[in-house]
Amino acid sequence: MSKVAKAVPGTKDILPEEIGAWYRIEKLSRKIFSRYNFREIRTPIFESTSLFSRGIGEETDIVSKEMYTFRDKGEDLLTLRPEMTAPVVRAFIEHSMYSQSQITKLFYFAPMFRQERPQAGRLRQFHQFGAEILGSSSPYSDCEIILSAAGILKAIGLKDLTIKINSLGTPASREIYKEKLRLYLNDHLTSLSPESQKRYHTNILRIFDSKEEQDKKIMAGAPLLYEYLDEESRAEFNLVEEMLSSRGISYQPDYQLVRGLDYYTKTTFEIISGKVGSQSALCGGGRYDNLVSDLGGPSVPGVGFAAGVERILLAAKNEGIVFGDAIRPDVYIANLKRDDSAGSFRVAQELRDEDISAEMDILGRSMKAQMREANKLEVSFVVILGGDESKDGNCTIKNMKNSSQEVVPLNQIVIFISRNLHG
Ligand code: HAM
Repeated sequence: MSKVAKAVPGTKDILPEEIGAWYRIEKLSRKIFSRYNFREIRTPIFESTSLFSRGIGEETDIVSKEMYTFRDKGEDLLTLRPEMTAPVVRAFIEHSMYSQSQITKLFYFAPMFRQERPQAGRLRQFHQFGAEILGSSSPYSDCEIILSAAGILKAIGLKDLTIKINSLGTPASREIYKEKLRLYLNDHLTSLSPESQKRYHTNILRIFDSKEEQDKKIMAGAPLLYEYLDEESRAEFNLVEEMLSSRGISYQPDYQLVRGLDYYTKTTFEIISGKVGSQSALCGGGRYDNLVSDLGGPSVPGVGFAAGVERILLAAKNEGIVFGDAIRPDVYIANLKRDDSAGSFRVAQELRDEDISAEMDILGRSMKAQMREANKLEVSFVVILGGDESKDGNCTIKNMKNSSQEVVPLNQIVIFISRNLHG
């Protein structure tokens, strides 16, 4: 026998029994995005590699280690998108959206690709929903982003959540801070893990993300960016805090929160679940006031977030949230005459034509097996054809909720079901 074909590690099939949860998350996120006046954008799955290296930053883990990059026949370097902010900004510039309105609010729901070591909550193909506001530097936009993200997670039913917020300041204040951090770490350099020693030279802020105990100890004594924030960033951060408090949203300032992408300025945040182990960030985002101009567009500020659907599902499962099946038929057509598929088919099609979902037996099974199938499908009604009453042009319709039965003329089935289905 030949080897069984398998999905690539880090990728996952979304099976029919799981799709109900996906529909629900997509529906809730769309609903909440529309409350905030976000409109959907869909961009290609692959982009020029340079978009991500310029946008996210050469020295980030994503760009330096995790991208799926390939050459196409025209010899261009292309990359499967690892995130959506850079593609959304590319589309924003390419279609001159800034000239159509001063504020552009976009959302997406799409697959992303990162070549990471697969583990629970960390995949190589995963899905994000997210939103971006372009054209506003107001901290009210930061709040809209944080509140829409938190609102979706709450609507999904998640409870064990912590919102962490920080400000990364302007690039100028960050440079001053990085110098201070470098000075501090000079004395500890040899005690840092090899990875952090590398980061000392390439992306010093990311040392805060290290999971190594030796690094954590050293970083606990490090100066904090917050102490070096410029006036404007500090004032805006305070305003975000005030607005969250005024909405009764609890949050934790986390002055060591650095994000894995280089485009951030000022407010950044993550929403953490206490229920998913080490890959605990369900969502992350922040402000990126220079990304549009860095990618060749005008000077337009932006802020956004993205949330990982697979991680949300993991958190939901561990919180005991049940989503239920997405689709089940309302009606099952059972037929006592095993060779009368044509009769069953006619009734099924009549129902489907009237927007009622129906399933029928096509295997010529026994009545017992057909009823077992109807129960399994959890239909509301079973139309039983081919019994004694069929001689007079009738059928029996069984209401599966209360087990009552009624004899109904064949030409009245659709009317009967429509009348009773949602009644
Ligand atoms: P990010 O923090 O890289 O941010 O990703 C956002 C979320 O995507 C994470 O919190 C996580 O839930 C999910 N995620 C990331 N990598 C994986 C993975 N390998 N497997 C499963 N889930 C994953 C961004 O992508 C930014 N574009 C967010 C943003 C939008 N910032 C401003 N606007």
